[in-house]
Amino acid sequence: MAALAEAVSASDGTRLEAARRRLAGIIPDTEWGEVGQDIDAILRLKRARNAVILAHNYQTPDIYHGVADIVGDSLALAREAARTDADVIVLCGVHFMAETAKILNPGKTVLIPDLAAGCSLADSITAADVRLMRARHPGVPVAVYVNTSAEVKAEADICCTSGNAEKVVESLPGEAVIFLPDEYLANWVAGRTRKRIIAWHGHCEVHERFTAADIARVRLEHGRLDVIAHPECPPDVLAAADFVGSTAQMTDWVKTRRPPKVLLLTECSMSDNVAAEAPDVELVRACNLCPHMKRIDLANIRASLETMTHAVEVDPEIAARARRSVERMLEIR
Ligand code: 13P
Ligand code: SF4
Repeated sequence: MAALAEAVSASDGTRLEAARRRLAGIIPDTEWGEVGQDIDAILRLKRARNAVILAHNYQTPDIYHGVADIVGDSLALAREAARTDADVIVLCGVHFMAETAKILNPGKTVLIPDLAAGCSLADSITAADVRLMRARHPGVPVAVYVNTSAEVKAEADICCTSGNAEKVVESLPGEAVIFLPDEYLANWVAGRTRKRIIAWHGHCEVHERFTAADIARVRLEHGRLDVIAHPECPPDVLAAADFVGSTAQMTDWVKTRRPPKVLLLTECSMSDNVAAEAPDVELVRACNLCPHMKRIDLANIRASLETMTHAVEVDPEIAARARRSVERMLEIR
């Protein structure tokens, strides 16, 4: 490992300094020592392994601003995974995201720093459930949210994310679509298409906890502010929001419009990451933590690159079928 850690370059030093500057308002000087050491080691290991770090928008600022090469929503991470020429992909996010990267790159090593980083939506449905829905609604196309296992993707006609769900639904033939497994996202899409949406009963354990009463309370406390929400939130929350979009669309909305004060109804780290990029915007914190996303930290990213664990594997036959669903989605612009 020593040889790997020696593989330093001038650009690593520049990146470390840049990371320190970006994290200045978030990580106090007194805590920088250990964080800086981990970031430095990860930057060197990445170079030595020819690895790329893809990090979801819910990763903590030290990961998001410190070591990630690409940050984004599920759609951006899938697109980047499809085009990277790195030998190793370290996915800082949850398991379905790493599986999607592996499905798109069967010949590459895809690592996730903690294998237990799951997702309540992915756990809410099995491949047998999808087959059952097909049998109940013969001839109706099946779109599955990317927050699902490879086995579930393998049973679908196409995948979607919160960033392209409407377009994906509109791309399918016929007047109905089976849309699985997020009931609230399905409901949101149903309000934006003429197609009949046949839904499942999966929920995100993080977003289902927001209520319209939370919004009313914050509006009362803070006066004029913009409320933007992820479409995994319940319908009454989405109805009370000023904008609804994927994590990348929410970030872009704040960075482009620069509202004086905004409430992001999503995972807590999003607000931290957006605050670092839009310091003139006041972020009102009324967020929920995703325990799965929070399993990833600098220490296990470093260990992951040192020991090349945990490699994500997908059965080749399932991966081939799942790849068709993911690639059909990526073809839609
Ligand atoms: P995005 O695709 O919008 O990033 O959402 C992923 C997710 O898990 C939200 O909870
Ligand atoms: Fe899954 Fe919800 Fe966590 Fe996103 S926030 S990874 S949907 S549990």
